[in-house]
Amino acid sequence: MGNRITDLFGIQYPIIQAGMVWASGWRLASAVSNAGGLGIIGAGSMYPEVLREHIEKCKLATNKPFGVNVPMLYPDLEKLMEIIVELDVKIVFTSAGNPKTWTTYLKDRGIIVVHVVSSVKFALKAEEAGVDAIVAEGFEAGGHNGRDETTTLTLIPAVKEKISIPLIAAGGIATGRSMLAVMVLGADGVQVGSRFVASNEASSHPLFKQKVVEAGEGATQLTLKELAPVRLIKNKFYSDIQKAYAGCATVEELKSLLGRARAKKGMFEGDMEEGELEIGQVAAIIHEIKPAAQIVMDMMEEFTIAKAEVKHL
Ligand SMILES: Cc1cc2nc3c(=O)[nH]c(=O)nc-3n(C[C@H](O)[C@H](O)[C@H](O)COP(=O)(O)O)c2cc1C
Repeated sequence: MGNRITDLFGIQYPIIQAGMVWASGWRLASAVSNAGGLGIIGAGSMYPEVLREHIEKCKLATNKPFGVNVPMLYPDLEKLMEIIVELDVKIVFTSAGNPKTWTTYLKDRGIIVVHVVSSVKFALKAEEAGVDAIVAEGFEAGGHNGRDETTTLTLIPAVKEKISIPLIAAGGIATGRSMLAVMVLGADGVQVGSRFVASNEASSHPLFKQKVVEAGEGATQLTLKELAPVRLIKNKFYSDIQKAYAGCATVEELKSLLGRARAKKGMFEGDMEEGELEIGQVAAIIHEIKPAAQIVMDMMEEFTIAKAEVKHL
């Protein structure tokens, strides 16, 4: 299928595999790109030289387009950007920061820039900054998110009403039917995160993948709004956060509870109790770990069937 998103990236299907810390390295990104979607390397958990290695390996593993996700909270941002430019990466998704800071720099170097937002206000800022497309991410999504708790169902039409550049929906999308739903609401494509964590190629720890498959309704919560709001699985670490809130913890106390490397401990090293396990509400309908290409194919097949079905409504 062809539309503004497939044309922008030069891909077959408007399915973007989200850049995700500790999950989306070159193996996952290249598998998705080879399957006709857009694979993205998540630079947020990589030292600059590790990112270099992933980009180089991704180029060897696919001749299809792929991108790099850069959360702008990253401490050594200049280094990452230098590597991205030096290695001639064609597509960059920025998140968690001001889109004005890097968009011109990247676009001047011929790079397609997409910015992730969770509100209409920031979608407008991103469009004004000159990005090529926007990812609008709803409250259901795994990982870091906005404070306003706007769900995907509300956010997509609201953003669509205000912007004219291509729009990618994220948050709660793991099937062809949900893909069709957000496209009916005005999205040109989808960014899928949690579904790809439970893939063979994700670099997430096997215990975390299993936890995602077992997660049911109500298994996740958006928390730590005072720091950077994040949706995670309710494990011991989450209970400790709740206890801290009950004890009226200060921001400093919350910061020290979070500490350093919690996300790595959970999602990469497999500590299911003390680690931070970022995943979306949609984990409740993810029941098996599959090859990434299978995820893309299943989504497209279901999308086509559902599209034919709704003709009868
Ligand atoms: C494990 C995990 C790690 C994530 N890391 C990042 C990240 O590094 N940068 C980013 O922009 N978004 C990150 N996200 C958010 C995703 O990019 C994506 O927008 C989100 O997962 C979409 O919602 P879904 O999980 O319901 O599919 C992460 C999400 C998950 C589940």
